[in-house]
Amino acid sequence: MTTEKDFLPNREEDYENDTLTNKHLLAEHEYDGIRELDNKMPFWLRWLFYLSILFAIVYLVRFFIFKSEDLYQLAEYNKEVAKAGERPSAAGSETFEIVLLEDDASLASGKETWEKTCAVCHMADGGGLVGPNMTDKYWIHGNTLEDIMNVISNGVIEKGMIPYKDQISAQKRLEVASYILARLQGSTPANPKEPQGDLYE
Ligand code: HEC
Repeated sequence: MTTEKDFLPNREEDYENDTLTNKHLLAEHEYDGIRELDNKMPFWLRWLFYLSILFAIVYLVRFFIFKSEDLYQLAEYNKEVAKAGERPSAAGSETFEIVLLEDDASLASGKETWEKTCAVCHMADGGGLVGPNMTDKYWIHGNTLEDIMNVISNGVIEKGMIPYKDQISAQKRLEVASYILARLQGSTPANPKEPQGDLYE
């Protein structure tokens, strides 16, 4: 009976050497007269092998044991899409309904903002100075609440109207815009500035 041991050379002279290269031949490893050299695996290939084992272990632990990562691209994709959908609110940019505020508290708060921030250019009574008159029916950028909110939020930098979206909250901007429409419009200021823009009836 032959055992595996019979094939393994145990002394140097048991190795058979190749006649061309004089390197060890693999013992008992022959087919159609062709024999293989008993070479060691190259260093880089061995390490590639070890590292792939290491990678497999890390992968197994992360994906199958701790499940800290999505195994399927689709799950990952769906998560990204959901995240993209909720970004605006997460970033704190208010989704805001623009409706005219008519309650006294809101208009009082709007008046406060107006007098504190806007009056230097538009006058406390809205008569206009550097900025246009807010009491007449003439508007440069439109007379709807949206138009006014848009000017207050984004300004008209080149004409000297400051964008306030980073300085005044959306709620406060809506209050002051409402104050313009509900209180300043149609009032009679002490020194009204001449009309600017188009007449809106
Ligand atoms: C530094 C001066 C200045 C300040 C402060 C200022 N504005 Fe103005 N505002 C202007 C000027 C100048 C214009 C005219 C822009 C143009 O010609 O397009 C204007 C235009 C506007 C308009 C558009 C008017 C129209 O006819 O379409 C609104 C509304 C307005 N301002 C509201 C405000 C409010 C509300 C504030 C305070 C939060 C404010 N402004 C503060 C200078 C100012």
